[in-house]
Amino acid sequence: MDIANFEFNALHLPSPIEEIFDECWNSKGIQVFVKRDDLIHPIISGNKWRKLKNYLQTFSFSTHSGLLSFGGAYSNHLYALAFAGHSLGIPTVGIIRGEELTTGSNAFLSQMNDWGMQLHFISRTVYRSKTIPLEYEKYAVIAEGGFGELAIQGMEILVDELPACDLIYTAVGTGATAIGIAKHSETSVIGVLTLNNRSEIESHSLPTNLSIEDAYVFGKYAKQNDELDLFCAEFHLQHRISIEPIYTGRMFYALFDHIKNGHIAPNTKLVAIHTGGVK
Ligand SMILES: Cc1ncc(COP(=O)(O)O)c(C=O)c1O
Repeated sequence: MDIANFEFNALHLPSPIEEIFDECWNSKGIQVFVKRDDLIHPIISGNKWRKLKNYLQTFSFSTHSGLLSFGGAYSNHLYALAFAGHSLGIPTVGIIRGEELTTGSNAFLSQMNDWGMQLHFISRTVYRSKTIPLEYEKYAVIAEGGFGELAIQGMEILVDELPACDLIYTAVGTGATAIGIAKHSETSVIGVLTLNNRSEIESHSLPTNLSIEDAYVFGKYAKQNDELDLFCAEFHLQHRISIEPIYTGRMFYALFDHIKNGHIAPNTKLVAIHTGGVK
């Protein structure tokens, strides 16, 4: 299937946009809209499609043997790539951190294997060097987490789908999503860090309309946190939208805190990007 047909038949694009309500902000005339990229697809949801699309599209004009990327044993990025490759007939390779693992180690890996992704398990030390095994040298490489110029470019279409607004909030992992949104928009973007990687993010040339918010990392990346878990559960109860504590939970927590603390001017129109990640 080609990309255009796949988008038309399998993906929910453009993704919907929904307003969410709360006395806390409605009383100040602040409006909060959620861009529901989580609804694009159950597997290539949120920013995964936005980040991968250009890699998949470019592949069809290239002489590469397939697409290769890196990740851990539970990488959503690799999972999405494996599914996209399977759907579009593109060979994929996943270089997985952990030489002790096998295709049977967890349901994620075995599903990726079933979709035809070649899984290559390497030690954490070799993984850090991001060396491409010789047998895959003809594969186009997508960096860990999908970061790259093509991923950043992929945000242009997302920005085109957004309504006019005063401020955009999005979660930051590798930074591709936030950088891409800011690059293609004239609106101010708040990128909420989900791990302590400010210096790494700032080593990229950041658009001047992107501000990095680092006060909501909540300690170690992905470590379970009761406050965030409770926040996500309450958010779901109130707004009927699922969020998870690693990315969108932190982003919405920051957004709500900014409103509560008076950092957002009255009558501001905000858009929060739901970048997916909910299983
Ligand atoms: C659900 C979700 N939201 C946000 C992000 C952060 O995106 P980026 O790596 O482009 O900063 C990720 C990581 O890919 C993610 O899985």
